[in-house]
Amino acid sequence: MDFKEELKQYQEKINKELEKYLRTKNCLEGTLNESMEYSLMSGGKRLRPILVLSTYSLFKNDLEECFPYAVAIEMVHNFSLIHDDLPGIDNDEFRHGKLTNHKKFNEATAILAGDGLLNNAYIVISNDLKKTRESKELVKKLQIFNEFTLAVDRMIAGEYVDTEYESKEISTQDLQYIHENKTGALLKLCVRMGAILGEASDKELESLTSYAEKIGLAFQIKDDILSEEGDEKVLGKPVGNDKKLKKCTYVSKYGLEKSKEILNRIIKEAEDELESFGNKADFLRDLALYIENRNK
Ligand code: IPE
Ligand code: IPE
Ligand code: MG
Ligand code: MG
Repeated sequence: MDFKEELKQYQEKINKELEKYLRTKNCLEGTLNESMEYSLMSGGKRLRPILVLSTYSLFKNDLEECFPYAVAIEMVHNFSLIHDDLPGIDNDEFRHGKLTNHKKFNEATAILAGDGLLNNAYIVISNDLKKTRESKELVKKLQIFNEFTLAVDRMIAGEYVDTEYESKEISTQDLQYIHENKTGALLKLCVRMGAILGEASDKELESLTSYAEKIGLAFQIKDDILSEEGDEKVLGKPVGNDKKLKKCTYVSKYGLEKSKEILNRIIKEAEDELESFGNKADFLRDLALYIENRNK
């Protein structure tokens, strides 16, 4: 199947699954539920759940097995976006071509919607654990749950260091630290969840983890590039916002051209990690190229 078509089919599957978790508006906290839905269903690319499903499909076909984990990671991702856009962090007004959560609702609602999505992710995972009868399966899922909590911890740390470094000089090492944590940690988690659920061997898990680390860093470098030269209408979020806040990015550190070279090199390295999987990993290869060439 053509990559674009496969990507679209994954997105549709995920959107359909996410819809099952939307909550009633007919209660006292109805507007809070509405604000969570507003962000969760506002047209994200669904890259993280797609990574879970497409990694799993290297090993097995029953994709439903990873749905709870795919849903949970998209909830956490949207929590991170809502809070990232808040006045105290990036102070952005647009995301996915619409008002950010705090602009559409208010700050209190946006803070709580983020909290709500984070906790909902844990509800979804723990419900899946509760249903799991076989002890070997349960041990595997507990490992994933633990990795999930640790990855969220890294994302939060990365966000903190990112804000701390505004208007400051940064070393190569610390810049990479920010990117690997604020963005890379969740992407790595997705690939590892797919691989562990699919019962990858230790060696396979190792290669896939390296692939994920590369695309995680690459994804944020491309985000830095898009914040410099993207098309706001396509991107659906502000261009020039990193510069305005004097963020430390690959573009501020290395300039546009060098950043693109670094991005290209890392994407090639990511592809190399997939060699042992042969044709089976074509989708993951194309996904790496998509990360390099995306315009939103
Ligand atoms: C945006 O992520 C935040 C970063 C980590 C750079 P995505 O580009 O994956 O967000 P979606 O597609 O809008 O959900
Ligand atoms: C987003 O980083 C990372 C997280 C939300 C964890 P950015 O602040 O660089 O991403 P955008 O450009 O707002 O999506
Ligand atoms: Mg930010
Ligand atoms: Mg931001």
